[in-house]
Amino acid sequence: MAFVRACALSELEEDTPKRVELDGTPVSVVQTAGEVFAIHDICSHANVSLSEGEVEDCQIECWLHGSSFDLRTGKPSGLPATRPVPVYPVKIEGDDVFVSLSQES
Ligand code: FES
Repeated sequence: MAFVRACALSELEEDTPKRVELDGTPVSVVQTAGEVFAIHDICSHANVSLSEGEVEDCQIECWLHGSSFDLRTGKPSGLPATRPVPVYPVKIEGDDVFVSLSQES
């Protein structure tokens, strides 16, 4: 599983998603509840950036139509989205956050 550096841990603000591009893939990195998560930065309902949405209770909300996605599983909690968004494994080393674009979490 190839991890690539996404950002510095110190750049992340609690509950504030940070959008990064890894090998051309948009990823939203989120620090919340003492953990760091990486989720594909495009909603499964339409082409909207999830990193512009709000984070609460380990969920990221799509600002356009309000579906929330679980940061641990990528599953939507409600309509209109019905398909999950890929989530990616995260590894922290010192102040560096690494993400693997493999979708095993
Ligand atoms: S675009 Fe995200 S819920 Fe519609």
